[in-house]
Amino acid sequence: MRYDFDKIVDRRGTYSYKWGVGENELPMWVADMDFETAPEIVAALEKRVSNKIFGYTDIPDEWYEAYMGWWKKRHGVELKKEWLIYSSGVIPTISSTVRKLSAPAENVVILTPVYNMFYNCVLNNGRNIIESKLIYDDKSYSIDFEDLEKKLADEQTSLMIFCNPHNPVGRIWSREELNKVGELCLKHDVKLIVDEIHCDLTDPDKEYVPFVSLKKELVDNAIIAIAPTKTFNIAGLQTSAVVVTNKALRHKVWRQINTDEVGEPNAFAIDVVLAAFNEGEKWLDELRTYIYNNKCIVDQYIKENIKEISLVPSSATYLLWLDCGNVTANSKELMKHIRKETGLFLSAGTHYGPGGENFLRLNIACPKERLMDGLARLEKGIHSYKK
Ligand SMILES: Cc1ncc(COP(=O)(O)O)c(C=O)c1O
Repeated sequence: MRYDFDKIVDRRGTYSYKWGVGENELPMWVADMDFETAPEIVAALEKRVSNKIFGYTDIPDEWYEAYMGWWKKRHGVELKKEWLIYSSGVIPTISSTVRKLSAPAENVVILTPVYNMFYNCVLNNGRNIIESKLIYDDKSYSIDFEDLEKKLADEQTSLMIFCNPHNPVGRIWSREELNKVGELCLKHDVKLIVDEIHCDLTDPDKEYVPFVSLKKELVDNAIIAIAPTKTFNIAGLQTSAVVVTNKALRHKVWRQINTDEVGEPNAFAIDVVLAAFNEGEKWLDELRTYIYNNKCIVDQYIKENIKEISLVPSSATYLLWLDCGNVTANSKELMKHIRKETGLFLSAGTHYGPGGENFLRLNIACPKERLMDGLARLEKGIHSYKK
């Protein structure tokens, strides 16, 4: 290992959202990592800071080349420069796209349980959420295509938001599943927003299927949000991109992003993208191995010490989905109990909509020492819980 993922970094006093917790509390909830970002990125930031002037920033050719180069070498797809739009974040992109491509009171379909901010992007814009619940068979998740089609076929439905890999259940959707979702959206004249922010954080031997690699007519109906921010733990620097292959659709998305004024980079947003995509590969490969080992540790610990719960098998993200159905059907109450009794702060599955009632989400992107502390607290919290 060239990089030190065991290093314990004190994040208190940095206004960290995740670490705004009590003194003895351990936050393993919101999706950011307790690892220092790649030293190559830190060096680029230091270089930028040394200039000591932080004025307005342009989007250079190198920014496009960095995205195109990364998707080619890591994911085997060719992005064209003209397909890419700068955006300050995936959520700003989704929220802007909802505003542009649907009208108030129209429907936006999501597959639940899903990243809670999808709800905000829809509801805060005065659109209806239509939930299609994923099917869970005690081991894995799949899409209920019959239900999904019914919901897409509703004349009031204009958009669908889709997460690949899926937060919080950690599934990488197969090419066949992606094709089916894409075909159904096309058939019912529903535009598809695909959030691929977790796509680089797959298990070491797994690869996601980029939506842009599907057939042209499906891709032309999609708005694809990508970023280096989850991958490299730089979400606070607010930098992302949108891929839209269809020219007319691209103009609409670009227009709204630039009407909402989320289309301009901050003074660090370009430098970090160049450093991450041009120099961050080795760091990422070591990170993925480290996270995968953490996942194995959690699996074994739960099997040996917390037999009443189980880890839902996953292939991506550092967010583990714990099935606590034998303990409770009220994960919010369980989450509160664990926090009160042990200081371990997890996310309740109910946060992610229908289907989350029996689950807790555990963020394992932290040094092993911290992970073991979290697991001991989890064990104590589960064992002291009475329905
Ligand atoms: C699926 C998903 N999309 C988007 C985001 C946030 O993206 P951004 O910070 O670029 O708005 C997250 C963060 O957890 C996420 O899990």
